[in-house]
Amino acid sequence: MKILIIGASGLVGSHCTHVLKNEFYDVVGTHLNFQTPETVYYDPLSVSEKNLQLDNVKPDIIIHCGALTNVDYCENNERESEIATVLSTKVLVDYCNRNNAKLIYLSTDYVFDGEKGPYPESTPTNPINVYGKHKLEAELLVKSLDKYIIARITNVYGEEERSKNFIARLVIWLQQNEVKKLDLPIDQFATPVYAGDIARMLLCLIRDDKTGIYNLSSTDYYDRYHLALKVKSFFRDNTSVILNPVQTAHLNQAAKRPLKGGLLNIKFIQQYPDFEFSNVDSFLKTLVNNEI
Ligand SMILES: NC(=O)c1ccc[n+]([C@@H]2O[C@H](COP(=O)([O-])OP(=O)(O)OC[C@H]3O[C@@H](n4cnc5c(N)ncnc54)[C@H](OP(=O)(O)O)[C@@H]3O)[C@@H](O)[C@H]2O)c1
Repeated sequence: MKILIIGASGLVGSHCTHVLKNEFYDVVGTHLNFQTPETVYYDPLSVSEKNLQLDNVKPDIIIHCGALTNVDYCENNERESEIATVLSTKVLVDYCNRNNAKLIYLSTDYVFDGEKGPYPESTPTNPINVYGKHKLEAELLVKSLDKYIIARITNVYGEEERSKNFIARLVIWLQQNEVKKLDLPIDQFATPVYAGDIARMLLCLIRDDKTGIYNLSSTDYYDRYHLALKVKSFFRDNTSVILNPVQTAHLNQAAKRPLKGGLLNIKFIQQYPDFEFSNVDSFLKTLVNNEI
């Protein structure tokens, strides 16, 4: 079975690449701006001859991790967000439609308004910012296919080449004793999930040919400030990184944030009761132990 991973140079896509290759799937991974040894260039909207041609790759499954993910940038650049997130997805939906391929689309808890999270899959959507609105528009395109999975995720952490994710960045600052004072919202809740777990959960869903919407979360539920405190607790000697709890309203962010966000993964757990989840604790323990 051939699997094309759009956005394999990113956090989720790189973990999917490793997990699926380990299981001997025939995997092709793509990047947009950041090439890695395991990726080839692909822009769904480019008509250049140098662009990867889907008709030559002939994937049975496409895992689509590509999106404009800077929420405040999306708010200020609505058209760019629409092009990167919605129109790019449309190209992949059209390919899957023509070729009877399956599309696995990585989505977000930002399709919800954050009034009553964490959310089960069945909750009516109601995005409150441009990023969430475009992710939902892309979801609706994906839902028009016969064979699809919408995998909703949030607050992803894990090892990645560029260490962009919140926990990875914080760990580097703590390890390197960088002097930082971080204003962190105490009223933005979500369900952090390890990128490696997302990849292993997707492997289960691929093997069993599942379709539909799945929340891929873990066992943690944190606000940003307490998540950072948890990370810092693994670096007890550090005095250079100061964590300052603030209300979201004080941050003057361009995009509104769903405050009580997060995702309930009851559907996945009911189908895979033996699945062993990582959590922030186990991830940090492994990280710190590997350093000694
Ligand atoms: N990380 C989170 O906490 C989180 C939470 C909720 C939802 N999600 C969703 O999960 C997906 C993956 O997130 P991530 O954290 O892995 O993001 P990431 O690390 O920023 O990776 C995104 C990947 O997609 C590529 N890409 C970006 N725009 C593209 C486009 N228009 N066409 C093709 N490729 C494109 C990027 O390429 P280059 O880097 O090479 O330019 C990169 O490989 C995204 O759809 C995001 O909306 C993530």
